[in-house]
Amino acid sequence: MDIDRDGVRRAPDGGYAHLTSPEIRVETHRLFSRRDDDVEAAVLGALALTGTETVLDVGSGTGTFVQNLIDRGHTGRVIALDLSFSAYLTARAVPGVEAIHASADEIPLPDGSVDVVLSRQMLVHCPSPEMIVAECARVLTADGVFVATVNHARTVPMIRHVIETELGSLGLRVPDSASWVTTDTVAELVGRFFETVDVVRHDNELVFTGPGPLVRYATSLFSLYGVDDDPATNQLLVDRVTARVEDWFRATSEPWLEPKGYSVCSARGLLPV
Ligand SMILES: C[S@@+](CC[C@H](N)C(=O)[O-])C[C@H]1O[C@@H](n2cnc3c(N)ncnc32)[C@H](O)[C@@H]1O
Repeated sequence: MDIDRDGVRRAPDGGYAHLTSPEIRVETHRLFSRRDDDVEAAVLGALALTGTETVLDVGSGTGTFVQNLIDRGHTGRVIALDLSFSAYLTARAVPGVEAIHASADEIPLPDGSVDVVLSRQMLVHCPSPEMIVAECARVLTADGVFVATVNHARTVPMIRHVIETELGSLGLRVPDSASWVTTDTVAELVGRFFETVDVVRHDNELVFTGPGPLVRYATSLFSLYGVDDDPATNQLLVDRVTARVEDWFRATSEPWLEPKGYSVCSARGLLPV
């Protein structure tokens, strides 16, 4: 691993060979963050597991969290639920994990059957985040804990502005982020279901000193804007974003800085429904 002039860790090949969009995002945060910040460590700290709990990871995605629990020797049930079939298959391939292919707003588990529910980076874009938190609360035991991570509002604003202006110039819809669950709104949402809600902020910054990794990161965000299904539109957007980013680096020797951050929200004490 190389270290560049801003002290940012960097793989020689950019670290992106054969990665999907979510993996590129994870890899970018790992390689180009100004400060080390391990979300899984932050979440594990908030969960304070003994190792015997029944844990449900809602929106398990690439399955790294449930894999991590198994690797740590967790002896309680480890359940991964995701709406995406490929995420379900990924979780199902992890020995010791019970994988469920379902939507989090209708969790196929009995009331009060889970000690810990984790919802990492999945409430944000859901059309019905309140229903999802209600379902997470329903399946929790009375002394269970719910932990959610959400991003700060307007995280990585510069590259999002580039993508959004190019989407607009192509006549494509830019999603309205006003209703997204963020650091600013998560306590109010979760507090509708739990007595005690604690939100811990993690502030950081992405530092790019050249266009390649930034363009790869930008393209990995396209799926959040719903454009990666159409190859022609995708390519047009890639070309336009690449041109904007390359122009910017030609004009300056400064790094491209993207403020970012997330919060870990922990909740305990179920309120009566
Ligand atoms: C941004 S990814 C986060 C994945 C993982 N939790 C992580 O932090 O790496 C969001 C995940 O939530 C899943 N998801 C979105 N809406 C969902 C829903 N209603 N029910 C279950 N999973 C959902 C997506 O399929 C995706 O795997």
